[in-house]
Order: sequence, then structure tokens, then C-alpha cells
Amino acid sequence: MEKSYRQTYHACVPSGWSNDPNGLIFFNGKYHLFYQHYPYKTQWGIMHWGHVTSRDFVKWENCPIALKPDRVYEAVCGCCSGSAIEVDGKMLLAYTAAQPDLQRQCLAWSDDGIHFTKDPANPVLRADMLHPEVSVKDFRDPYLFRRDGHYYMLAGAKLLEPPYRADQTISAGSVGVGADKFTPTDWNPSNPPFLSGDGLNAGDGWGNLVLCRSDDLYHWTYIGRLIRRSDHLPEQFYQLPGAYECPSYFEVDGTEVVLSSPQNFVGEGKQFQNVHASTYMTGKLDFETGHFAIDAMGEVDYGFDFYAEQAMVTPEGRVVMIAWKEMWDRSFPTQSEGWAGTYTLPRELHVREGRLVQQPVWELKKYRRNPAAFHSLKVEEESVSLPGVAGKTLELSFTLSPDGARRCGVKLFKGQEHETLIYFDAEEGMLVFDRAHSGKETGGRDRDKYRRFCPVEDPSCIRLQCYLDISSVEVFVDGGKAVMTGNVYPDHEGDDGVEFFAEGGACSFADVEKYDIIVK
Ligand code: FRU
Repeated sequence: MEKSYRQTYHACVPSGWSNDPNGLIFFNGKYHLFYQHYPYKTQWGIMHWGHVTSRDFVKWENCPIALKPDRVYEAVCGCCSGSAIEVDGKMLLAYTAAQPDLQRQCLAWSDDGIHFTKDPANPVLRADMLHPEVSVKDFRDPYLFRRDGHYYMLAGAKLLEPPYRADQTISAGSVGVGADKFTPTDWNPSNPPFLSGDGLNAGDGWGNLVLCRSDDLYHWTYIGRLIRRSDHLPEQFYQLPGAYECPSYFEVDGTEVVLSSPQNFVGEGKQFQNVHASTYMTGKLDFETGHFAIDAMGEVDYGFDFYAEQAMVTPEGRVVMIAWKEMWDRSFPTQSEGWAGTYTLPRELHVREGRLVQQPVWELKKYRRNPAAFHSLKVEEESVSLPGVAGKTLELSFTLSPDGARRCGVKLFKGQEHETLIYFDAEEGMLVFDRAHSGKETGGRDRDKYRRFCPVEDPSCIRLQCYLDISSVEVFVDGGKAVMTGNVYPDHEGDDGVEFFAEGGACSFADVEKYDIIVK
């Protein structure tokens, strides 16, 4: 077996660095996943758009880099995040050309979905064309969509308070339009400029989302901000010391949904445990004012590694979401293998009883092999393995019914020294993902380095679907009403056991189903 943390049925960057998924679209018979990419090192650097395609959301094929930063207006942060739509048979990418203190929106076109040409009118949209409340420094990640014959762009931004600061001055380096090219001496790939500290969080203001409209993709009108005080959200949502990054907007099951990733979100206790969060809001978008009247909101994923999710609508009308399965402000153990950046399973989204429900796309079932099933199992003060239930690329489902146990659940990637725990903690009344003893550790700014907590609806009966892939764990709770995602770094040899355990009492496990997931 190859000694690598490379995952087998999750999209991963081939080499170098990758972050946010971008431009999800079905075009020319394939699903396209672009991603923020720095090909020359395993850290963030001037941004390119990497590209993979798939016919079934499971087997991904590498394609040539789709966007390279080669225009003055992209110096020095590059082609940052964005989205894709189809216009008159062409694929259109919308992305942010980011400079240290100026972020502007650009377009790139393709006939074949592989080769792209930047629009000569770039950058087509910058904040000072809109309204002085929108900071020119933090205005990024356009999500382009059509509605009632118009184009809309939903973007993350920081908004300034009146009187709007006059210091929207832009340093001399932050310029360039149209065909202005980098000269090779402007940028030496072996020694690129890196952003430090707070990433692309460049200026003053509080995070919000903004909506813009156009009829021709070149002339844009500012509609307004989505999040307003009237929505009775906790204060952290109005005074976000970062941008709401990478938004998506869609309708599913008759409900409108906005996804986004609030940067530097200050979570409390066992909620929003990551340094940067991912949220969904259901409600109603007013296309005249931009206001999104919020009905409900929640955390998209309760695990360690989940950020910058994007949603797309497939030709048959499924809404499918993919996220960056990593987190900022952490170390990346795969860097020593020459790569850093993995993506979640593509997840089909629904809204049921007002909340977001996620399931892996059905296509993953085509790769199930070697089934094993057990009707029921009672475990008390012990740790039990089942015949045929072990491995590193697995789908494992079971129903957990705690029966007096203080802690009960499964040990995954279990070896002599390592184990990754997914268990119900009776005292907390919550499900726990514990990677304290998983293997190689990550360092970073986490409040809790080892544990993530997730609410459950009925603590007496919890259905879990776990997807293991070499160094990845995704746990769908109660049919996907909650999900916990995280990467773990066990030993390459051994560390492939699965055990069911109960401590401080008993627990029943029912309807245990296991499949190997084999993608060849
Ligand atoms: C989110 C983000 C985006 C930005 C991109 C740069 O992870 O900060 O807002 O466009 O990364 O790579």
C-alpha cells in the first residue's frame, strides 16, 4: 500500500496547495470542480484555479490549471474564489482579482470548459462602482446566478459605517485593468509573496453579504446587504471581524438557502468551535433591497475540517455542496508529502423541517464492495470488533442506543497506539469526534484541539453513517441532520481496526452495515 495520506474517493490537490472549491458546474457532460491552488509550494501563495472533473462526483480527473495569475490587476494575491455559470453554451467563471488592498470581480470564458480567456473588460466590478458602504478592500468570492432574466452576484464583503471612511485609498501597486500583463520580473514563482496572519482580511468594517444585479454582466447595480439587525441574530453575526466568505444561494424543497463561511467568527462553548465557521441560513431574499429575512440558521458541519463550501444545481435539479475539508490557522500534516488540500464528499442538500439535511451523493453507492451486516450487538465495559469490519476506506453505518453507558460509540483507524473516537457522551448529551489519539497532530489556534461536539435529536437512538478514507472521517448523523467532518493522520501500516465500545455501562448497536469503498 502506498504510504501516503492521499484519499481515494475524495478530491485532493495532486501537489502543492489548495483551498476553497470554486466554480462547481455541470458542463459538457462532466461535473467541474475548480479550486484555489498554489502549484509551487504546499502553502498559500498567489492564487491559481486548479481543476478536476468527474462524470459521477466520485472519480476525479486532473485537468490543466484553469486560471493563472498573469494580469497586473491580479498582482499579488491572484485569482481568488468564485463561481461558474453557463452562458450561451460557454462556461463563464466569476472570480476575485485580489490585491493587498483592492478586491475586484472578474470574468473568464471558455468554450470547452478546459481553456479559459480572461475578459478584456476585467475587472468588471469593484466596490467603488457600487456604494461607499462596501469596502474596496474586502469584497470577494462572487456567486453568480440568474433570476427573472437578470444576473445576480452575491459576494462576501465588509461594510463601513457612515460617514464612510475616506481612507479607501489604494496603494500604487493595487491597480491594472484589461490586458495589462505581469512582467516576469514582477513575480518570481520560486519566491512568491505570501499573505500572512489574517489571510485576505484586509480592511476595516464588519462582515456582511452583498447582492448586485446586472443585465449584461458588465454594468452592475448595488442592491444591498443581506444581513440586517432586524433578524434577531446573536451579535457575533453583525460584528464579524472578517468577511462572510464564499457564499452560495439556492432554492431547495421550496426553501431559499444562503451558505457562507464567516471568517473569525467568535463561537462559544460547544458551538462554532472552529476559528472560522460555516453557516446556513434559510429565509427569503428580497431582490429589491437585498435583505435576507432569516427563518433559521445553523452550523453546516460540526467537525474540525470544513470551510468555504459551495453549492451547485445539477441538470436534474439536485443541489450538491462541496467544501474545503481543511481549516485555516492550522498546520497540515500532508505538507511533508508535497500536498495540502482535500474536499468533502459531494453532499446532496435538502431542507426538512426548516433545517439543512445532507447526504453523500447516491453515486457513491456504486463503489460499495464486500458488504458485512450484523443485526444487533450489545456491548458493556468493553471494546468489540466484528468479523469483516475493518479497513481504511469504508462506509460504516449503525444505530446507537446508549443503555446506561457514560460513553459509547466506535473506535476508527484503531491500532496499537492510535484510535479516532466517535461516541455519545451521556453527560454532555452530545456526540463527540475525538482525535486526541488519532495519530499525527495538527497545531493551530483551536480553542479545543482534540474534540468537536454535535447535538443529537434523540439520545436514546442515534443513527450514524461514517465514511472513512485513509485520512478522512465524515459522520452523517440521523440521516444527515448534522454532520461532523475531520481529517486524521494514523500510521500508514496497522491503524485500520474498527471497534464498538461502551464505558461506564452498556450500549446496543443495531443494524450495523459495512462496505469497503473501492474506487478503481
Ligand atoms: C476563503 C478565502 C476566500 C478567498 C480565498 C483566497 O478561504 O479567504 O475569501 O477568495 O480564500 O484563496
